[in-house]
Amino acid sequence: MYLLKKYCPKNLEGVVGLDKPISEFLKYLGKKPVLLYGSPGVGKTLSCYLVAKKLDLELYEINASDYRDTESLKKVLEIAKQYSIFGKKRLVLIDEVDGLSTQDKGATKELIKILKETKNPIVLIANDAYDQKLKSLKYYCKLIQYHKIHTNSIVKYLKKICDEENVDCDDNILKNIAQRSNGDVRASVLDLQSLISKNKLLPSDYLAPRNYEENIFNSVRYILKTKKIDIAKDVMNNLDRNPDDFFWWIEENVTKEYQETDLENALNFLSLADTVKKRIRKRQDWNLFKYYVDFISVGVALSKEDTYRKFVRYGFPTFISKMGAMKAKRKELEETMDKLQEQMHCSKRIIKEELPYLRQFMDL
Ligand SMILES: Nc1ncnc2c1ncn2[C@@H]1O[C@H](COP(=O)(O)OP(=O)(O)OP(=O)(O)O)[C@@H](O)[C@H]1O
Ligand SMILES: [Mg+2]
Repeated sequence: MYLLKKYCPKNLEGVVGLDKPISEFLKYLGKKPVLLYGSPGVGKTLSCYLVAKKLDLELYEINASDYRDTESLKKVLEIAKQYSIFGKKRLVLIDEVDGLSTQDKGATKELIKILKETKNPIVLIANDAYDQKLKSLKYYCKLIQYHKIHTNSIVKYLKKICDEENVDCDDNILKNIAQRSNGDVRASVLDLQSLISKNKLLPSDYLAPRNYEENIFNSVRYILKTKKIDIAKDVMNNLDRNPDDFFWWIEENVTKEYQETDLENALNFLSLADTVKKRIRKRQDWNLFKYYVDFISVGVALSKEDTYRKFVRYGFPTFISKMGAMKAKRKELEETMDKLQEQMHCSKRIIKEELPYLRQFMDL
């Protein structure tokens, strides 16, 4: 079974290294809207689930995709003002609040209205509390920081998992995993899982090096190494960029890792994903989006017979860099055309038509 799920704490006492923020959370909850903020994977969302459980509140959770606009926030306000059908109080959780649209000015206003008028305790979660978008919201909230989890606490937690799983573990490897995770418990447990091989831990050099692109490299690695559906799905849920970009990341790197029939199967899934994407665009049928995401992740992950144990250095997608370069060139051309338009007193269409001739004697 997937270790992250299996060892996910079932109560607040089991949460690692967060005594202070959690006790503050409990102290202010219901008295003032609470804004939890901090880096990813440290237990912000988790602690809301467990607080709701402890206080016997019905959790009402919404995240960025549910409240992009003023209209959907109006519905949230209604719910925040009512108790549940069993007369229970709710814990209204507004996750990923930094994903709020900046285009829709009414959205922030509506959110503030919710904070003022709610009859239920309310929690907001953000990664960065100093994001400009949160400037006015913060004023109404008690800010509670979720700091990164200390390496020693993570090592202890990983060791406990290894003991329960009967995995022979070397303390140095656990320490390496914890240090690489940079205080992120979720990343460390996922790393641990990918290093477990037949009741032993593989050396941590099997993990791809972390750098400025660490999250996306990790996501690629999980998809290409795992054979489990729930891990592949979880990677997509936690992806830090849009799935269209991720498509190219997988396309670039699957050829480095998979071979023969495995590669053929994976490329078939990517081609299916591409077809589905075109259909979504053409018909505007976003119900198909889940298949697009599954083909890229679960499809590619399950295309291999066995996990490849070799070390592969993943790379940045060539397609994206080429597109980037082309975009820059197009922009340059547009600017030159603007200038030419001014000088030649004619439309852009005509300049475009004349471009091949102009190119003969101008550097365009
Ligand atoms: N402090 C912790 N103690 C034990 N397990 C943890 C802790 N933090 C995270 N985890 C594990 O990682 C999983 C993900 O954590 P969670 O969703 O709470 O992260 P988060 O802080 O909300 O991250 P994000 O900013 O990416 O949403 C949890 O379900 C749990 O299994
Ligand atoms: Mg979260």
